[in-house]
Formats: sequence, structure tokens, C-alpha cells
Amino acid sequence: MHWQRPSNLDHWHGATPDTAMTRPVPAVTRNGPGVVWEEKATDGPCRGGARKPVEERTMDTNTRLSKKQQAMIPIAAFTASGDLEKLKPAMHEGLDAGLTVNEIKEIPTHLYAYAGFPRALNGLGAFMTVLDERRAGGITDEIGRDAAPLPTGTSSLELGEEVQTKIVGRPVAGPLYDFAPAMDRFLKSHLFGELFGRDVLDYQDREIATLSALSNMDGVEPQLKAHFGLSLNVGLTEGQIRELLSILGAKVDRQKGLNAEEAFREVLQEKGDNRKGDNEVKTLIVFFSHSGNTRRFARVIQEMTGGDIAEIQPVEPYPGDYDAVVRQAKRELGAGFKPPIRTLGEDIGRYGTVFLGSPNWWSTIAPPLQAFLSGYDLSGKTIIPFITHGGGGAGRSFAEIAALCPNSTVLEGLAVFGGPGRDNRDEASAWLARFGIVP
Ligand SMILES: Cc1cc2nc3c(=O)[nH]c(=O)nc-3n(C[C@H](O)[C@H](O)[C@H](O)COP(=O)(O)O)c2cc1C
Repeated sequence: MHWQRPSNLDHWHGATPDTAMTRPVPAVTRNGPGVVWEEKATDGPCRGGARKPVEERTMDTNTRLSKKQQAMIPIAAFTASGDLEKLKPAMHEGLDAGLTVNEIKEIPTHLYAYAGFPRALNGLGAFMTVLDERRAGGITDEIGRDAAPLPTGTSSLELGEEVQTKIVGRPVAGPLYDFAPAMDRFLKSHLFGELFGRDVLDYQDREIATLSALSNMDGVEPQLKAHFGLSLNVGLTEGQIRELLSILGAKVDRQKGLNAEEAFREVLQEKGDNRKGDNEVKTLIVFFSHSGNTRRFARVIQEMTGGDIAEIQPVEPYPGDYDAVVRQAKRELGAGFKPPIRTLGEDIGRYGTVFLGSPNWWSTIAPPLQAFLSGYDLSGKTIIPFITHGGGGAGRSFAEIAALCPNSTVLEGLAVFGGPGRDNRDEASAWLARFGIVP
């Protein structure tokens, strides 16, 4: 495949629709079929230690699972059910789809916490056979990198507690854990500390494996439902979860797929009912996202604030092709063009606080957010802006928002790096705490 980056573009620092870039820092790297923005360059030495896993994402498939993620589903499901004769071909397909040997090994490893050592060990044994078969057939598979060591200076219990709280969205406690404190410790230190701390798979991949496994096991519906919630918390979209379930139905077991779909429907319904009963909702998160980073971060804000959320959708969607959208954005910003957007379902008048989110496009907010600000009256409201970017920070975005909301109180905005697999929760909670929105 061919590596692409925006024409004439080395780095987004200081980009404008009409000025050329200056710093020759490679700001985008190819990772699978999509474009991944590198971290903002610093002058300091590179940090060592654990690396965050970087997953494949493409510009136009943010609501689709990647090929590798799709291939994980039957591997996890058959590992959990112990169906080794179906597991082996699924593992072959996984390697063919680009999963590394270490990534596939990590699936049964992770799943031992859900399906037990016997199923996990049998799965790993089956994988050894698969690798032998492929070697005999002259196929050399990519081993991939191993897990980076866990951070030093923190116990796996502390680490696990932190990760569990993040993923669940609140500290986990309750009568069951009071009754069996050893289980609480094992869950935290081992599952959320040691296993989730292994960066061979990221949290989304781990949740994909877990949903696939639990969907193919009997008697674990409460856990399956809980993991639908966790999967949304780590940034999988409803569309991706539905895709997972339909792959499960098609490739693993039709009835199990249908049962899991029903459980997911109930989870979404429960979420909706809770929201309907809450007349006190005063916060709205309005955002535009092209490739999903801003959407993911908007959801983190939603989860932390309990607000409502609304996505700005241009009537004419932007092209998925990267260079094409970069060119179109440049043209639109240069011309001050505000694309027609779909009417928002929410009654803006109900809300006192409105978070406004956009990707940084050419150092400012994307035209659909400009269109929203021109079309809706936010007078008297408190506005809190947020931006996701590819290394250039907020650019002029906050000033632009302030200029477009002259009769609103615009609070301090937050710009976060919008790389794949990131949810920027720590930055979000520190920022929201400044306004007293979260403790
Ligand atoms: C048309 C376009 C222009 C962009 N311009 C910039 C820029 O000037 N500075 C920057 O740091 N990142 C820039 N980026 C990268 C995006 O800001 C970044 O990937 C963002 O997280 C994408 O958010 P989204 O997934 O919600 O669309 C640009 C991306 C696109 C598609």
C-alpha cells in the first residue's frame, strides 16, 4: 500500500489555508491503511518505558472495525467455547488479516480471566499447531512486538484500580466485593493491572475479544451487558459493536449472535430510559468529527458530565479520502464557506452549558462547527470549547469560537492530541475539575 500524507505538508504546526508549513517534522505515519498523527514533537529526549499500542484506523471507517479487529472475533469466541477445530481456521484467517503472532497469543491470554485457564491454554496449544502448519507450508508470520514492561513504581493493584476506574467510569465497589475481597483484589491487580497493562492489545481490542467470548458462553449475560457498557466507554461505537455481533452471528453461531444483539438492545434501551428520566440535564456536547477522534473525546466528556450529546453532520459528507478532505477544507476555509448542516434534534434553548468540539482543521475549527455557530443562537450560555489535533494544538480555534459567540461566556478550552486509541481521560478530568464540573 502507498503511504500518503497531505500534499505540500510536513507538519501542522502553524498551518493555515494559505500559508505553507515550515517545520520538516514527519507528522503523519502510515499504520495500516489509515493515517496516524504522531505525537507533538518535543525538544526533550524521547521517553522510554511502556508504549501505548497504536491501532489501525482509517479516515473513512471510523464506525467500522478494522480487518484485524474483525478477525479477532471468531478467535476469541472459539477460544472461549473451546471449539478448537473452528478456532484453528479462525487463527489462520487472523494471521492472514495481519494480526501478529503476539497479538493472537494475547487473545487467549486475556481470555483466561473470562473463560479460565483450560480454555486459554487449549487455545494457545491450538495456535502452536497453526504456526507449525504455516511454517511447514513455507509461511513466515510476523511475530510482532511483545508487551512493554508495566510502569515501575506502581503496584499492579494501584495500576489496576486506576485502569478499572477509568474503563468502568467510576470506582468499582459493592457487596459482592465486600463479601469476597480476594476477588476484588484479583480483578484489580491481575485483570485490570497486569493484563490490561500489557500493551500488545489496546483496550478496544481487549473489549472486542471479551464481548466475542462472553457472547459465545452460556450463563454470563450480566457480564456481557456490563461489557457492552465498558466497550462504549473505551470508545467503540454502537456501529462497531453491532458489526461485531453480526460477524459473530455469521461466523460463530447465529443464535448466540441474536442473543447478544438482544442483550445489547436492552443495554441501549436502559441507557435511554435513564436519560429520559433526568429533567435536570443542562449540559449539551455539540461536536463535529470527520475521522472519529473528536467524537471519541466528546463521548468521554459526555460520560464525565452526564450531558446530552449531538453530532453536527454536514448535509454533504466530506470525502473519506485524506488528501481530498484536506484540499476541500483548505478551499472552504479560504472562502469562508459554511456547509449546510443537518438540523440538530436537541432543543438548544434547554441547555445552559454547551461544550463545542471540532478537529483542528488548518489551525482553526472545521467549517461545519462554524456553520453551527452561525445558525444557532448561543447567547447567554456558557461555552466550553474543545479541539482534537494532529500536533498543532488548538491553533486559532478558541479565538474563532469566542468571536462567533460574542454574547456567550466562553470558558477555557482544551486541545488534546487526537491519535487513535486515545481517550485523553486524564486531561479531560483535570480540565473539567477546573470548572467544578467533575470532582
Ligand atoms: C482537513 C484537515 C486539516 C487538518 N489540519 C490540522 C492542523 O492544521 N493542525 C493539526 O494539528 N492537525 C490538523 N489535522 C489533523 C486533525 O486535527 C486531527 O487528526 C483530529 O484529531 C481529527 O479529528 P476528527 O477525527 O474528529 O475528525 C487536520 C486534519 C484534516 C482532515
